[in-house]
Amino acid sequence: MSFLNRHSRLEKNATLLLIMSLLVVTVGGIVEIAPLFYLQNTVEKVKGMRPYTPLELAGRDIYIREGCYACHSQMIRPFRDEVERYGHYSLAAESMYDHSFQWGSKRTGPDLARVGQRYSNEWHVQHLIEPRSVVPESVMPAYAFLKDRPLDTKGIAAHLVANRRVGVPYTDEMIANAEADMKAQADPDADVSGLEARYPKARAANFDGDKQALTEMDAMVAYLQMLGTLVDFSTYDEAAGRR
Ligand code: HEC
Repeated sequence: MSFLNRHSRLEKNATLLLIMSLLVVTVGGIVEIAPLFYLQNTVEKVKGMRPYTPLELAGRDIYIREGCYACHSQMIRPFRDEVERYGHYSLAAESMYDHSFQWGSKRTGPDLARVGQRYSNEWHVQHLIEPRSVVPESVMPAYAFLKDRPLDTKGIAAHLVANRRVGVPYTDEMIANAEADMKAQADPDADVSGLEARYPKARAANFDGDKQALTEMDAMVAYLQMLGTLVDFSTYDEAAGRR
């Protein structure tokens, strides 16, 4: 009997077809999933990645609270048009401390995975207060209220603990200093040596331009300014990364 004849028998017998389909899907599924249980690591480590500073983490929470992800993705795909526009494509390791991920696919506005250090702090503040004052054709809503809302510093240590529970390597020292680190990063006059030792490449600045107040704007701009800046792509070994 030819193969075609045997196959037509399979196609005419609904029960047999169902059983064989299930078999194929099961084998295919196992082949794809099983190796993941035996790999040491599915995300290769990349030099430069560190957990968010307390101020950046607070900014990230506000980013999620305000639904910025509804219009902005944070994942540069490895296509030429994206890489030319946004920079090096995103690495899995770059979001390994993100709970939850902000990858997304909806881009009403540009991808933000590498927006850090592309603009000044003043630009971000002005843009968030009134987007159309810096980008006249913008359809982004204004978030001026962030500048008037005091930043909640009390819950931050507990927030670091929660992140540690899901695998972010916050140390006891980081947790003990969470509130102080948060305040220090938004105050350029403070001693930030401890902050910088705990979180390499942490940038301290008076992000919102208001020396007196620690606001949600400080946290938001601190977060935006670090996005995509931790991995140094001038030294990143692409061939080693791919293996
Ligand atoms: C309704 C959709 C929408 C929402 C919600 C939104 N944005 Fe935007 N965003 C845009 C658009 C469109 C642009 C491009 C025009 C511009 O620069 O204003 C943009 C631009 C930006 C840029 C500049 C990016 C670049 O590379 O030039 C930043 C930073 C930004 N948004 C941050 C935020 C943050 C933070 C939030 C949440 C607080 C947010 N956006 C919410 C639509 C949105």
